[in-house]
Amino acid sequence: MAEHVIAIDQGTTSTRAIVFDARGSIVTSAQREHEQIFPKAGWVEHDPEEIWTNTAWVLDSVLEQSGLTAGDIAGIGVTNQRETAIVWDRRTGRPVANAIVWQDTRTQQRIDRLSADGGVDRFADTTGLPLATYFSASKIAWILDNIDGARAAAEAGDLLFGTPDSWVIWKLTGGREHITDVTNASRTLLMDLETLDWSEEMLRVWDIPRGMLPGIRSSSAVVGEASEPAAAAGIPIAGILGDQQAATFGQAAFEPGESKNTYGTGNFLLVGTGTQIVRSGNGLITTVAYRIGDEPARYALEGSIAVTGSLVQWLRDNLGLIRSSDEVEELAGGVEDAGGAYFVPAFSGLFAPHWRPDARGAIVGLTRYVNRHHIARAALESTAFQSWDVIEAVEADTGHRLEEIRVDGGMTKNDLLMQFQADILGIPVVRPKVVETTALGAAYAAGLATAVWADHDELRAHWREDRRFEPAMGDDERDRRRRLWRKAVSKSLDWVD
Ligand code: G3P
Repeated sequence: MAEHVIAIDQGTTSTRAIVFDARGSIVTSAQREHEQIFPKAGWVEHDPEEIWTNTAWVLDSVLEQSGLTAGDIAGIGVTNQRETAIVWDRRTGRPVANAIVWQDTRTQQRIDRLSADGGVDRFADTTGLPLATYFSASKIAWILDNIDGARAAAEAGDLLFGTPDSWVIWKLTGGREHITDVTNASRTLLMDLETLDWSEEMLRVWDIPRGMLPGIRSSSAVVGEASEPAAAAGIPIAGILGDQQAATFGQAAFEPGESKNTYGTGNFLLVGTGTQIVRSGNGLITTVAYRIGDEPARYALEGSIAVTGSLVQWLRDNLGLIRSSDEVEELAGGVEDAGGAYFVPAFSGLFAPHWRPDARGAIVGLTRYVNRHHIARAALESTAFQSWDVIEAVEADTGHRLEEIRVDGGMTKNDLLMQFQADILGIPVVRPKVVETTALGAAYAAGLATAVWADHDELRAHWREDRRFEPAMGDDERDRRRRLWRKAVSKSLDWVD
């Protein structure tokens, strides 16, 4: 019996494939970065063809490295950067434009026009989301309005839209399946959270033809079969989850009140609310957490932070302060604190809990004393402060104080950051042995649908603690730092003319 599962993680900066065995352990993995295209200030694009080429390559690589064949693999789980919009021609298979990435803010004017009449929360009841450039709808509309012939082609039924999961699955199935799952669909600003179907009202608001949109499936179900690349032919596609929902699943945080904080390009904190759709009064968004087969969907509150790990990349690529991202811990560790500097990385405005598109990045508190070590440290600390902001919102919404927080993602191997996170939150930060929880969650979804695993209890039993960071900062110092952070945030607001 096939007992391995492959997760494809199509992320913001790279695409990975990871083979897991039936104990949830990694057998082998392959990864490829793709180009980040910045045509103008505020614009962020990816080349969908490059994404597919990389996907096929990583899939081929893990099959070759592991010596496994398609028949040994029970299923593929796909997880992905969410919201990023790709529009392609259903006959030629060619994208009509580059993917418009979730961080891209080119559609701000359209968002402003819509929110002028009823505010940013005017569609929150239906979609769970505020009006923001972050979500897919305004990006699709931009493509239809700005790419020659796109609207006519879309109306004639020739164009398809998808988030990266849809694109990858369409390619994997040789164009047979144009689908997404409930978690990804809940990030488009087009899905009704209650019916779990595209909302006619939202399609009218954005003027998007329904025929472009993928079919919405469960997160864990056999939804198709791969035919590309050749080595993967015949493997069932059995799981689809947006990457943050996948990380929550991979952390085995299935129950209401269970949460996780993922440290990736951005940070995303999710706390489950079970079958209840909870509306935030504090700047969080309401999202689908997962849906297994025909069971009712489970929901979550999410605090989305746009810039955390990508700030380290910015220190590397734009300032040349470090040569590789890993060096940031050593650079920041050269000093005891940030020397009074605070770094608010509002490169795409500020997401949760502020939702302030008018904010821009700011480094404040500078004196002649501050050096490159302090700047690196302030950059790392900004991740912890931003996470504190969303945890405050979670606690205000749920009325419960979090007792500890489970973390995952690439940046969590940075002990200095994890300790500072515990210090600023004043609660323990718990890191699991497998921090690749995004891929693990996608594998779990696929493995549940193909009988590799029986149920949540079996998955929960895989979870192992690696290290627990206990808060060590005094209360007065924590309060002082939090106060200064809030002051720094206030300086970054209202910057755009
Ligand atoms: O909402 C955006 C998120 O899905 C991107 O995640 O891990 O690719 O930065 P990541």
